[in-house]
Amino acid sequence: MATISAGSVASYSSQTGFVTKYRPLSMHFNASKTHMNFIDLKASSSICIQSDASLLGKGSIAALQASYLPKLKFKPGRLPAKQSQPRASAFKVAVLGAAGGIGQPLGLLIKMSPLVSHLNLYDIANVKGVAADLSHCNTPSQVIGFTGASELANCLRGVDVVVIPAGVPRKPGMTREDLFNINASIVKTLVEAVANNCPDAFIHIVSNPVNSTVPIAAEVLKQKGVYDPKKLFGVTTLDVVRANTFVSRKKNLRLVDVDVPVIGGHSGITILPLLSKIKPFVVFTDEEVSELTLKVQNGGTEVVEAKAGAGSATLSMAYAAARFVESSLRALDGDSDVYECAFVQSDLTDLPFFASRVKLGRNGIEAFMSADLLNLTNYEAKALEALKPELKASIEKGMAFAQK
Ligand SMILES: NC(=O)c1ccc[n+]([C@@H]2O[C@H](COP(=O)([O-])OP(=O)(O)OC[C@H]3O[C@@H](n4cnc5c(N)ncnc54)[C@H](O)[C@@H]3O)[C@@H](O)[C@H]2O)c1
Repeated sequence: MATISAGSVASYSSQTGFVTKYRPLSMHFNASKTHMNFIDLKASSSICIQSDASLLGKGSIAALQASYLPKLKFKPGRLPAKQSQPRASAFKVAVLGAAGGIGQPLGLLIKMSPLVSHLNLYDIANVKGVAADLSHCNTPSQVIGFTGASELANCLRGVDVVVIPAGVPRKPGMTREDLFNINASIVKTLVEAVANNCPDAFIHIVSNPVNSTVPIAAEVLKQKGVYDPKKLFGVTTLDVVRANTFVSRKKNLRLVDVDVPVIGGHSGITILPLLSKIKPFVVFTDEEVSELTLKVQNGGTEVVEAKAGAGSATLSMAYAAARFVESSLRALDGDSDVYECAFVQSDLTDLPFFASRVKLGRNGIEAFMSADLLNLTNYEAKALEALKPELKASIEKGMAFAQK
């Protein structure tokens, strides 16, 4: 266990060559580059770190450690031999729907990333106050609020990553499909603006139903002649976050060790956690597989019902979306070891879009982790076949809407 005392460490991270490299199941330090998260988020007097559990997934704990490096007593061999100059925060991120339940905490989490130089917040209302509020956090990025269609182009110009959580959330009794009528138009309009102003950006679609909104976005980008399938992502990170959490609780595993690929789509039975592909290797009974699979599939509904009309998952979603943003920024920054699950154009199955683990690089998706789909259990193989008709229908509905 390392005990870290918090002291006056502001801007320390911009002077160290301390590095976190992100691997699916491990973390190590490297003096050649700097990928630190959450600098200047100062805790009270001391922080005890008992494990590698982290704020935004594996690796982030290293960022926290880096923030407190001056006071940290490292074991021999863990400090970089030579410290190099890190690169400055470099990336522009825009959040569309930034005044909402997801948008606000997501903005806060992105504001904490040292990789971000500019954070542009867009909404149809109430976003200037959110921007003013966030701008007082003493982290490097500059925050600007943009309100309404007339300011959307300025919000998007030169942006590297666009996150879209705009739209209405579910109420009890609704499925994600029920949101289609409203959110389809919102996503279509916003992606048109992305195509016009920052066609090279990574696009993260959070707005539901993701199974349809991603195909809508793809069609819009095609119509505009700027579609790059390697850079369009439906954000399914929350399914992975939930799967990791539920499995680690059930099997009493350290969270940092747990990595469950979740494939398919992002709605009901289309969400398929592959428990046979979990790391570390764990044996599940048939009952456990079916209980955990259902719990992950119903995670969103559990929150919708608990909120009883006040919306759907916002905080865990912001956490998950921020993790995906951070992964994208690390990939853009040249980290060659970034893997995430996402709902993307894919030829892993006979469906045009499919969620799977992908390797991210500077130009978006570099590889699909096709091995995850090999040697599935009977349960998983059946569930995969069962989800296809529903997922296909949602994809086609989205494409048809955008082609209208
Ligand atoms: N992908 C996932 O895992 C996941 C998880 C949870 C929620 N969601 C989805 O995320 C979306 C947002 O959820 P929320 O809880 O933040 O909702 P919310 O109602 O709290 O916030 C939505 C925000 O979008 C804004 N908005 C509406 N129309 C807009 C437009 N045309 N342009 C820009 N902004 C616009 C609203 O003003 C509001 O601030 C919903 O569709 C929800 O279903 C996705």
